Amino acid sequence: MEKKEAFIIDGLNGERKLSGEIVVGGAKNEVLKTLASTILFKDEVSISNVPQIEDVARTLEALKNLGATVVKENNNKYRISTAGLNTSVISADIAKKLRASVVLTGPLLARFGSVDFPYPGGCVIGKRPIDMFLDGFKSMGAAVVEADGRFLVKTEGKLKGAEIFLKNQSVTVTETFMMAGVLAEGKTVIKNAALEPEIASLGRFLNEAGAKISGLETSTIEIVGGEMLSGKGLCHETMPDRIEAGSFVILGALCGSDLRISKCEPKHLDALLYNLKESGVNFETGPDHIRVYGNEGRHFKSLDIKTHEYPGFPTDLQAPISILLTQAEGQSFIFETIFENRLNYLEALDRFGASTRILDSHRAFINGPAKLEGRAVESPDLRAGLAYAIAGAVAKGRTEVHNVYYIDRGYERIDERLRAIGLDISRREA
Ligand code: EPZ
Repeated sequence: MEKKEAFIIDGLNGERKLSGEIVVGGAKNEVLKTLASTILFKDEVSISNVPQIEDVARTLEALKNLGATVVKENNNKYRISTAGLNTSVISADIAKKLRASVVLTGPLLARFGSVDFPYPGGCVIGKRPIDMFLDGFKSMGAAVVEADGRFLVKTEGKLKGAEIFLKNQSVTVTETFMMAGVLAEGKTVIKNAALEPEIASLGRFLNEAGAKISGLETSTIEIVGGEMLSGKGLCHETMPDRIEAGSFVILGALCGSDLRISKCEPKHLDALLYNLKESGVNFETGPDHIRVYGNEGRHFKSLDIKTHEYPGFPTDLQAPISILLTQAEGQSFIFETIFENRLNYLEALDRFGASTRILDSHRAFINGPAKLEGRAVESPDLRAGLAYAIAGAVAKGRTEVHNVYYIDRGYERIDERLRAIGLDISRREA
């Protein structure tokens, strides 16, 4: 059982004092899939720039439960062999902690002809259905049997390549069928595929190992099925985490005197950077860094934020940007188009002194600027949890953010790294 811990933050009371450099880690929403894709390999493969986060630990546990060998070279590099895989049954306790475990189903089904997995569970942000996974597997020739909250998906012989149209541009559905297509018979075409950069990075990695994937970075991805992949001499470096980078840029705008966010990909943050510029935030970008500075005494303008599939405004930055909107002048509007339940964190924000109004499950107003006072608050999910830490940094007085396991799911050693740029934040047993 994970320890109950809380972050204690002594807020800056609106002062901009954070400075120095914060290095961005590897992308959570890429590495969970590249780790899953090792199931498609006949030999050992290395993955580097792996963030030291709880979701990675859970995924490595899931792979070991399935019979994989995992060698930890250092905190951020692993060598994985799934040659010894001896089952395609995904355990309930792993799936319940890790929604993304659903991406294991594609590679397992493609390799073994069957996969047995529990409903991966929703979370506070939405129901997180899996109908697109099940329909896609059926279109590839598999039979699906549901019993006691588990799904048994089986094929007679190999999975068959198929044309799959995605009614929603789901990232994990796109990745699951891109991986399943690697070992399916014939060609698989994914139409209305998601465009998130993590998908293309995964596809390029698989192609280096012998896959035949085309159409990466477009909404139609084609995969010609073939043999198991080979990791011979391959070491895939995980791309920088654009959501972590964006969260740090927002923190820098609110609390930074001169903050350098390094080892990131500014080109993956166009939607955020466009909006921050609109709001009057001063920053500059380089090939792999963003420097946020010169914002002392600046008043930011309110914004209308509509979340959208990539390259639109990322839903995972919706909660962090809302903290900036509580400090912006005037009425801002949030339209969360992807998930039906990703605004509830605003209620707790009002207890800090923010002035928000949830209109319905997708839309809310935020009025600013509002003086924030530190509060005790529970993290409902990893992105809102980090947003509360940002609110605590802005606020006057002490903030306690509980359930930090959620934040540790997606941000490596975040308290240490924020302390290093000047935030008074500590971790203690709650
Ligand atoms: C990925 O989730 C990310 N997770 C999410 O990040 C991110 O918020 C999301 O993409 C959108 O960018 C990972 O990559 C592990 P979905 P994904 O549940 O692709 C509908 C974070 O904080 N849908 O597929 O799993 C669904 O209702 C997390 O890091 C179906 O209709 O998102 C929603 O409207 C949160 N049927 C849309 O697709 C299905 O079978 C996307 O939801 C599956 C999904």
